[in-house]
Amino acid sequence: MVRANAAQLPRLTPRSTIVSRLTLTEFRCYGQARIEAAGGAVVLTGPNGAGKTNLLEAISLMSPGRGLRSARSNDFQRIGAADGSNWGVAATISGPDGETLAGTGREAGTERRGVQIDGKAAKSQAALAEIVSVVWLTPLMDRLFVEGAKGRRKFLDRLIFGLDPAHAGRVTRHDLAVRQRSRLLTERPGESAWLDAVEAELAATGVALAAARMDMAARLARALEQSTGPFPRPIVAAEGPIEARLASEPALAVEDWVRGALARNRAGDAAQGETQLGAHRGDLAVTHREKGVPAALASTGEQKAILVAIVLAAARLAMAERGRMPILLLDEIAAHLDAGRREALYAEIGTLGAQAWMTGADRSLFESLGDNAQFFTIRDARITQT
Ligand SMILES: Nc1ncnc2c1ncn2[C@@H]1O[C@H](COP(=O)(O)OP(=O)(O)OP(=O)(O)O)[C@@H](O)[C@H]1O
Ligand SMILES: [Mg+2]
Repeated sequence: MVRANAAQLPRLTPRSTIVSRLTLTEFRCYGQARIEAAGGAVVLTGPNGAGKTNLLEAISLMSPGRGLRSARSNDFQRIGAADGSNWGVAATISGPDGETLAGTGREAGTERRGVQIDGKAAKSQAALAEIVSVVWLTPLMDRLFVEGAKGRRKFLDRLIFGLDPAHAGRVTRHDLAVRQRSRLLTERPGESAWLDAVEAELAATGVALAAARMDMAARLARALEQSTGPFPRPIVAAEGPIEARLASEPALAVEDWVRGALARNRAGDAAQGETQLGAHRGDLAVTHREKGVPAALASTGEQKAILVAIVLAAARLAMAERGRMPILLLDEIAAHLDAGRREALYAEIGTLGAQAWMTGADRSLFESLGDNAQFFTIRDARITQT
């Protein structure tokens, strides 16, 4: 890590981590673009199709995974870019310990998204979680409570990265073990020693993942219970087959149980073409406390407010327990909140000292931030500070 002299650092709220500079190359609608920002609220406004969400998506790639649209690496490549060019996003991450240069982009000749940290290739994307945590809310997540468990699991996992960066590695290893087992069951079902080893890894990482999700959900539940203000205080819990066992049995016993069940279910799983037991069967159950209904049955605005409440609670937790504030990406958030909640969100961003990137077509919804925000206008992929 390059350590900058403290006097050279931008003025930061103590311990906040920010993207102080972002450079985009052949990324989505951007040929070449750069933006510099300080901490606090960063507001991007402009017409539909200008490039606001694309910019947030670029920042979301500073965390492990496929970013806020769950896109494939090739989708990031600007349509119309010269043959042989590769998309790239570079960010200067400034924090209390100095500056780190993080970069990600398409590796030449492959579809892979590579990661560099301070100029050196990182072994995996999980390394990003050690430097910065990024949490987002986008219109695509409006159906998070209505659709399948996968989105909710990913959402919870991302919140955990903020408290425990090692969680990202666990997710990667577990996903890999699930894929390896499926492949072995179809291609080499007789390789029982190999299957034993993969199932042992799947059981160990699966129990670790489920335990971390339960722990996070319990912390979030306590934090939400104590929160005040106009946002709902949802009841949250990590659920799933492994989680259910962990509630009453020690982790080692649960690991043995998972391993045994996987070994017994090989034929059944091969026939179904999927591994039916593992941490990939977990879910985040959310209930609207005040209304007493599952979040899926709350109104669209209420669901959005529940998500904001969870994200803010997780940010407060990460700060209290790890001294690290996640970067918040809030796409079109202002348009979905009523005036009271909008003002409460702006106030909370100020109190937390988080860098919060917010987008919207209508600048008037952000005017009340006044001098507490940096304003940029984006038009046809051109960014200007206003
Ligand atoms: N790979 C790509 N190459 C070139 N352009 C792309 C690529 N992917 C997306 N785009 C375009 O980028 C433009 C900006 O998209 P973006 O989602 O950032 O807009 P936005 O400013 O958030 O608009 P809205 O207000 O409608 O949400 C769109 O016109 C989209 O079609
Ligand atoms: Mg958008």
